[in-house]
Amino acid sequence: MICWYGHACFKVDKVLIDPFLPNPLCNIEYPKVVEGVKVIAVTHGHSDHIGSTVEISKGYNLPVVSNHEISVYLGKQGVNTEGMNIGGTVEIEGSKLTMVKAEHSSDIDENTPGGVAAGYIINDRVYHAGDTGLFGDMKLIGEIYSPKVALLPVGGRYTMGPEEAVKAVEFLNPKVFIPMHYNTFPLIEQDISGLVKDIEEMGVKVVVPKVGESLHI
Ligand code: NI
Ligand code: MN
Repeated sequence: MICWYGHACFKVDKVLIDPFLPNPLCNIEYPKVVEGVKVIAVTHGHSDHIGSTVEISKGYNLPVVSNHEISVYLGKQGVNTEGMNIGGTVEIEGSKLTMVKAEHSSDIDENTPGGVAAGYIINDRVYHAGDTGLFGDMKLIGEIYSPKVALLPVGGRYTMGPEEAVKAVEFLNPKVFIPMHYNTFPLIEQDISGLVKDIEEMGVKVVVPKVGESLHI
């Protein structure tokens, strides 16, 4: 099950990723979002990804998987943390999370470096790229993990945009592509019609979910 809550926030099975809630695309209340969630995963330290992690984690008693530096930061705020780092796998509450690289920064604020940005392979099936530019090792991620579904940022400016995303899909070779991290703010507005056409021509299914819609993939 995959459900998009706007920006980079998704529920994948029992994992809630990057809970930037509410956000300009989503004002669904927490109880509905956390239905069935057993663990939160954070890709990097930026506020549009850490979002309401502390509040949701403490309010619903959910552990948080993140890189080591973010887990130290969250731990100081009383969050139940599961620190890890790139290349590692955590199995927790019936979910499997493997952390993979991303090309991006991760500072939490001007005084708090947040380690390095990452993506996740969730349950050997879904690749959430986090915020990232295009990088050649996506080919390796495709080879090693063969993700069925790729969730990739396409908004540009802070991450890759539509043209790079086409190449990323070519590298990853998933069955399904879902765009994220676009149209949340004016700076990352994108017309994705060309991208959708290019990726469909590669024989990959493109799903543009409605916010809050549960997809059975
Ligand atoms: Ni970011
Ligand atoms: Mn971001």
